[in-house]
Amino acid sequence: MTEVLLNVLINAQTLDKGLLDMEGALTARDRVGIQDFVLLDETTEVAFISNLKKRFSKDLIYTYIGTLLVSVNPYKELDIYNKKQMDVYMGVNFFELPPHIYALADNAYHTMLTEFSNHFILISGESGAGKTEASKKILQYYAVSCPSTNLLNTVRDKMLMSNPVLEAFGNAKTLKNDNSSRFGKYMDIQFNRQGDAVGGHILNYLLEKSRVVHQNHGERNFHIFYQLVEGGSDDLLQQLGLERNCQQYNYLTQGECAIVASINDKNDWKSVKNALQVIDFDEVNTNHLFEVVASVLHLGNVQFDTDNKGHVLLNNNTELNWVSNLLGVDAHSLQEGFTFRKIEAKTDQVLSPFTIDHAIYARDALAKAIYGQTFTWLVNRINESMENKDASQKTVIGLLDIYGFEVFYVNSFEQFCINYCNEKLQQLFIQLTLKNEQDEYEAEGIEWEPVQFFNNKIICDLVEEKHTGIISILDEECLRPGDTTDLTFLERLEEKMGNHPHFVTHKLADKMTRKTLERGDFRLLHYAGEVTYCVVGFLDKNNDLLYRNIKDLMCQSKNAIVRECFSIMDLDNRRRPETVATQFKSSLVKLTDMLTAKEAWYIRCLKSNESKKSGQFDEALIRHQVKYLGLMEHLRVRRAGFAYRRKYEVFLKRYKPLCPATWPHWTGPPADGVEVLAQHLGYLPDEYKMGRTKIFIRHPRTLYATEDAYEKCKHDLATKLQAKYKGYKAKEEFQKQKEAATKIETCWRGVQARKEREKRAWAVKVIKKFIKGYLTRGQAKTTDNSEYLQFVRQSYLNRLKDNLPKTVLDKTSWLTPPPVLTETSEMLRKLHYRLMVRKYVRGITPQRKAQLQLKIITSSIFKGKKDNYPQSVPQPFVDTRISDQDINMRVLQMIRNEQIKYSVPVIKYDRNGFKPRPRQLILTQTAAYLVEEAKIKQRVLYASLKGISVSNLTDGIIVFHITCEDPKQKGDLAMQCDHLFEFLTKLSAIAKKENVIKVVQSSIKIQIQAGKESAVDFSTGQEPMVYKAKNGHLMVVATRTRPR
Ligand SMILES: Nc1ncnc2c1ncn2[C@@H]1O[C@H](COP(=O)(O)OP(=O)(O)O)[C@@H](O)[C@H]1O
Ligand SMILES: [Mg+2]
Repeated sequence: MTEVLLNVLINAQTLDKGLLDMEGALTARDRVGIQDFVLLDETTEVAFISNLKKRFSKDLIYTYIGTLLVSVNPYKELDIYNKKQMDVYMGVNFFELPPHIYALADNAYHTMLTEFSNHFILISGESGAGKTEASKKILQYYAVSCPSTNLLNTVRDKMLMSNPVLEAFGNAKTLKNDNSSRFGKYMDIQFNRQGDAVGGHILNYLLEKSRVVHQNHGERNFHIFYQLVEGGSDDLLQQLGLERNCQQYNYLTQGECAIVASINDKNDWKSVKNALQVIDFDEVNTNHLFEVVASVLHLGNVQFDTDNKGHVLLNNNTELNWVSNLLGVDAHSLQEGFTFRKIEAKTDQVLSPFTIDHAIYARDALAKAIYGQTFTWLVNRINESMENKDASQKTVIGLLDIYGFEVFYVNSFEQFCINYCNEKLQQLFIQLTLKNEQDEYEAEGIEWEPVQFFNNKIICDLVEEKHTGIISILDEECLRPGDTTDLTFLERLEEKMGNHPHFVTHKLADKMTRKTLERGDFRLLHYAGEVTYCVVGFLDKNNDLLYRNIKDLMCQSKNAIVRECFSIMDLDNRRRPETVATQFKSSLVKLTDMLTAKEAWYIRCLKSNESKKSGQFDEALIRHQVKYLGLMEHLRVRRAGFAYRRKYEVFLKRYKPLCPATWPHWTGPPADGVEVLAQHLGYLPDEYKMGRTKIFIRHPRTLYATEDAYEKCKHDLATKLQAKYKGYKAKEEFQKQKEAATKIETCWRGVQARKEREKRAWAVKVIKKFIKGYLTRGQAKTTDNSEYLQFVRQSYLNRLKDNLPKTVLDKTSWLTPPPVLTETSEMLRKLHYRLMVRKYVRGITPQRKAQLQLKIITSSIFKGKKDNYPQSVPQPFVDTRISDQDINMRVLQMIRNEQIKYSVPVIKYDRNGFKPRPRQLILTQTAAYLVEEAKIKQRVLYASLKGISVSNLTDGIIVFHITCEDPKQKGDLAMQCDHLFEFLTKLSAIAKKENVIKVVQSSIKIQIQAGKESAVDFSTGQEPMVYKAKNGHLMVVATRTRPR
């Protein structure tokens, strides 16, 4: 391996992107190991590997070198590929979070969107290092995190689902990897301007067809064969003539590991079937596809024999019939194709019988051809299904997952191609990184320093150079007439390559090396290490010949897939067929051209150990990979000149708080600001350089110091900003509230004012109406006054309700009604009084009733007649004025037969001389008794009481006019009684003498005795007096009634 001293121009375009947020990585540097190797203190391999190991032991499988992602296969499921993680990385700057494949995917995506440029992600590493897994993770990330619509979802599903199908047909278990991709795959994901994934396209490279017919020990054929046999339904197997036993099929058993624990063919079969549906495979196509797969298995079981002339014979027609059946070709022609060669000589065709080797070759060639062609057909179908027919401009992110560098015990043509491919990709990587590196330094006008770097161009040339390269020689050998064999090819190589530093054979090697080489081997010193190739099969594989008659037969196949594939092939073959190696070479040239036009992102996958065990970190193995992947050089390139660079604006923006002159605003050119800042921070002259647009810092420690200062300062700043911001927020909030309050207030005032206005308008209307009503209140009811009248009525009635007279006696307080209600009021008044009377009447006791009845009698006799009557009205009548105890026993004895009804003290005036004598007057049922102590002085039978006279004045004089037929009988009785009204009322009630009571004016005649008359004269005066006047009459002076 030659170390070439290159004038390596430090840094690269990728690096620029990586540096965008290197500061994030800085802050995270104290976690497990270092997240970005660029920030490693020393760039030794030991430090590098120790950092990888440290991180690997904590399951941190990703580490950056700038934007390059180094991934170490953990060989175990890590919980870092879920939706949550995707969300975390979505739209976040590269170095702000721990390294992750999502970060790289996301950054590529966002750069594509913002720059509207095409990108590709180159995933490299040796077989089993995790390339295919990485590409799947990226695809999943885009599927989940890109914007989506229903339509796009189906495109996405197809992109995702193309994987299991392609893996079933193109992957196999090898010694290195249980799911090794045996074809190269480049997939473009197309995005529209909005960033939606709108389509996809796959390019496939060189399927390892030889695997169909041969597998090394410990390896398997392509997964699909085992999946079909293990997982296919009984019906399907029967239809395809297959048995559920892999051991039955020669093509499946050569590696002696048809069944392995790590692979679940049955389940995988289900996923493949499901995926086929998603990518629009109809039943017909699916059936054809499985017919092809089954026909290959049957082909493997077609056995030959030889006759005595050494010509080949078919010893069992069953398998052949199945093949002809499944491929829809004539069985006889097929048999002929396997046993004879058709030689075309001008117009004639001659059939030449095969030897057994030829027959086997023809059989295997057919098996490889149909499988290989079908694989290409499959990729085309998938492309059709994912195609975006929209013509609008799109950008793409390409995912290159191509077979990794491979070294087996025996390496053949396929490994040669695969490793050549890896050389090409390494070359692309070097070119892209170095070129950009140079560009940047030149653009910035910075002096650069040379870095030792191995350029593998020499190996690429060795393989591919026109005329002198290995491929050219191989092709020549394939096409050269005469007896060419693999060994003649080797000889030609030895002739031409002779002293090439990367080429060696048994013959060319020195003694030591010779021991390690067989005679049929040649060895290449690849950039990734030595690989010894066995030339056996190189010519055949490169020619990839299929006998003409078999090819023609396939063009007539009833299986649409086979017919289609071979017809296309046939057309191609009209021209001189290109050899496999040349085809491969040109496809790689195309690929490199295509990639060079895009921006590159790199993922370097490392295998942690050979035994696919988790947790094992095989340092030697890792060191080897680190070396051949050129990771150290890459790192050194990144670090050699300046570990860090940044656009002035960006640098200033981040670090300006560290210098009073630049904080908070720098108004001059950013470069000057950075210079001031650098001076302030005390950067030494050789620690940094000022480019045209960027500052370049040589050592990470300078940056660390700056970053540490920034971290410290950030906290203070943060507090300040927080306080300011909080104040600002509070103010803003206050302003908002104030504005809101004013607004509400205004609105409210408006509402109130409108209400008030309405109220006033209403009031004016009402008042107007009221006045009109008032003015016309006397008229008949009109629209103008009806309401007013209504109001008047209501108001009167309401007032009346509250001011009704409380007693019957209250005759004055009845409210005066308005004219409209005069009648009503009168009716109400009467009603009300009646009601009160009724209530009153209901309320009085029988005693009181009796009393009142007596009072009525009194009233009928005296009302308006006797002056002191009104004063008597409120005086209640009592039952008697003299109780029985106060009446003498003897008197009581004497009148015991008569019930005493009433007794009252009187003053009786003697008939002779009108001497006043106090007496008791007792009323019984039949008579009135005048009693003095125990003596009854006079008994006046009611029947003989012909009249009773009283004066109209206020005196108490009563005169009984008694019928006096008997002269012995005493004459009229003149008395004075204080209870005149009571006494006379009782008397008239008892004796029914109401009508005989007379109220007389000025004088009452009295008969003192029969024939002897006198009189009682009445007059008024100051003092009441009763005396005998000179004329012999009884003179009564009564006081005048006080006017009431
Ligand atoms: N990121 C990963 N996490 C877990 N296992 C992984 C990861 N990458 C790879 N592997 C394991 O390694 C195996 C080989 O990976 P694969 O991607 O097929 O390798 P390559 O394509 O490089 O040959 C996978 O089948 C898987 O078991
Ligand atoms: Mg792979």
